[in-house]
Amino acid sequence: MRAAILRNTGDHDLEVRDDITLRPTGPGEVKVRITHSGVCHSDLSAMNGTIPQPPPAVLGHEGAGIVEEIGAGVTSVVPGDHVIIAWSPPCGKCKSCVDHKQPNLCFNIMMVMGGQFRQGDEIIGSMAGTGTFAEYTLVPEPAVVKIDNDIPLEVASLIGCGVMTGAGAAINTAKVSPGSSVIVYGAGGVGISAIQGARIAGAAEIVAVDMNINKLEEAKAFGATHSCTPDEVDSLKNSITGGMGFDYALECIGKPVTMRAAYDQTRRGGTTCIVGVGRMDEFVQFSAFELFFNEKILVGSYYGGTDVRSDFHMLLRLYRSGKLDLDRMITRRIKIDEINDAMRAMERGEVVRQVIEF
Ligand SMILES: NC(=O)c1ccc[n+]([C@@H]2O[C@H](COP(=O)([O-])OP(=O)(O)OC[C@H]3O[C@@H](n4cnc5c(N)ncnc54)[C@H](O)[C@@H]3O)[C@@H](O)[C@H]2O)c1
Ligand SMILES: [Zn+2]
Ligand SMILES: [Zn+2]
Repeated sequence: MRAAILRNTGDHDLEVRDDITLRPTGPGEVKVRITHSGVCHSDLSAMNGTIPQPPPAVLGHEGAGIVEEIGAGVTSVVPGDHVIIAWSPPCGKCKSCVDHKQPNLCFNIMMVMGGQFRQGDEIIGSMAGTGTFAEYTLVPEPAVVKIDNDIPLEVASLIGCGVMTGAGAAINTAKVSPGSSVIVYGAGGVGISAIQGARIAGAAEIVAVDMNINKLEEAKAFGATHSCTPDEVDSLKNSITGGMGFDYALECIGKPVTMRAAYDQTRRGGTTCIVGVGRMDEFVQFSAFELFFNEKILVGSYYGGTDVRSDFHMLLRLYRSGKLDLDRMITRRIKIDEINDAMRAMERGEVVRQVIEF
């Protein structure tokens, strides 16, 4: 089958091959025919080493498709079911899942995912254990969430990462409240989803910040009430919040400078939520005084604080009722052969989401 593989960390291009196979479906596993995969910035970050991903690996982690085959003991899906792939699925039994009620942080399933692809005898890994830049993948049962067959699978694929992450960061992690002011750094797939999450949560003002001016109008179509480039933020802060700062700031880029800016634009006592993923060897500085003095809540958001078993359906209900716009988030539909062009377009900040159609 066809798949896009990262051969070495730092490679500029993925290798698109047509001789990749899957190992046989084992007990508790589900083989999925991937119909659609979104292209998330984290895939690009796996290529350049921002996100550690041992090569060789089939990239892609934002996918949806149709169950092809189930292993012994699988009960939640049957062949023909439509599913969204979850890259951090809950085991449902551990401390994270049960005691802490943070199933997004469960490692039990994630740890056994991956290693499903073969090129000849060579084992090929997969991004976050999922590898959705391939015609088929094989994952443990908790990593598939069954959805209704009438949901377009291209839309469903976006929920697998970017939409769940951004909307979840606003709704679950930051817990944006009605009537509040929100600033979102980055208007890519994750940022646009955070803007939509803030709108759904009832924010009064939502400012989108992006250095790519094409994104500024686009962000307004998804619910931003204002938009600007980074150097114009201060004047909007003054006019919207009287200089106090925003109730919530969501960073959806992954750079130290914008993480620091998000903290600075948060009002005293407000919430700074870091969604973007930066490098392990990059740092954000805070003075030892300001953390106490500002009493800001500084919180990371991993996969939008989601419980995929319920939140995917929550987002799909919002989509069906017209409150979450997913159709227009798809800037471009591509074939797997165009994956490297797609990465370049994302690097240039030209797209909200590109979806690979298999
Ligand atoms: N927390 C999680 O679980 C999780 C999940 C998925 C993605 N992510 C991360 O979220 C981030 C965003 O992902 P995406 O797919 O939306 O990316 P994207 O490339 O689609 O969007 C990023 C946007 O940021 C803008 N931008 C870049 N540098 C900027 C700067 N200095 N100032 C202002 N704007 C700037 C770009 O123009 C672009 O519009 C990435 O870091 C990704 O790895 C995190
Ligand atoms: Zn668990
Ligand atoms: Zn992602």
